[in-house]
Amino acid sequence: MSKLLKGVEAASAAPDHTPAIALAHLGKTYPGGVRALDDVSLTVERGTFLAVMGPSGSGKSTLMHCAAGLDAPTVGSVRIDGYEIAGLNETRRTELRRERIGFVFQSYNLVPSLSVADNITLPLRLAGRAPDQEWLRTLIERVDLADRLTHRPAELSGGQQQRAAIVRALAARPAVVFADEPTGALDLRSAHEVLNLLRDLVDELRQTVVMVTHDPAAAAQAHQALVMADGRVVDTLHTPTAADLAARLVALGEG
Ligand SMILES: Nc1ncnc2c1ncn2[C@@H]1O[C@H](COP(=O)(O)OP(=O)(O)OP(=O)(O)O)[C@@H](O)[C@H]1O
Ligand SMILES: [Mg+2]
Repeated sequence: MSKLLKGVEAASAAPDHTPAIALAHLGKTYPGGVRALDDVSLTVERGTFLAVMGPSGSGKSTLMHCAAGLDAPTVGSVRIDGYEIAGLNETRRTELRRERIGFVFQSYNLVPSLSVADNITLPLRLAGRAPDQEWLRTLIERVDLADRLTHRPAELSGGQQQRAAIVRALAARPAVVFADEPTGALDLRSAHEVLNLLRDLVDELRQTVVMVTHDPAAAAQAHQALVMADGRVVDTLHTPTAADLAARLVALGEG
């Protein structure tokens, strides 16, 4: 694919050596006392495709939400593109999130009453920013949605809705895209397309992508995989194979 994306410049203005994500001693205890994250530190260089795996309840979504500024950690530091977001109040955190972070959910989370086109530009408009039309056209053509822009989400297939959600996540040229089980609701073929799309964004644009998945074959598309258990990172695999990851998960009681 994607002569379309070639030559389009990658997202962020920060100098190349600044990691896309730097988490230090991150902890999250939910009201009621569940310690969902326990002293997690990690650095993600720009242009990395990172998969996050681990048993249900191991803290994957909590890690994503804290790293993406959707939720505040109890302790620790979250730097996105060099900017500390952990100590910010909710308003500032939301602003920073809109500027620097894209999020893709398992359930797409498109607004049902808006057209695909309006869904895609909604975060930009909320941030008071004018969309870069050329960039949006490039993305929309890449995901093959040009003839679906006036449709409502319910008129699209699941795969098309997720591709629209990925364009929405990329519209502001974020430093990082977080995707929490982005293929979890999709059939095999659509899942494969979405994974290829994420991988291409990393390879061609040096976009940084962090993806939670339960599927070792999906995680094997990534450059690195973290394995979580009980709120901690218990393993980091480089260029992981599906077999290695499956074996690791079975050892943790999942798989
Ligand atoms: N809002 C919340 N309030 C209280 N406890 C929560 C909340 N969200 C998550 N938890 C708890 O925190 C722990 C980690 O949850 P988290 O959703 O991060 O796990 P996960 O690894 O994403 O699991 P899954 O694979 O099932 O999505 C679990 O014990 C969970 O019950
Ligand atoms: Mg989860």
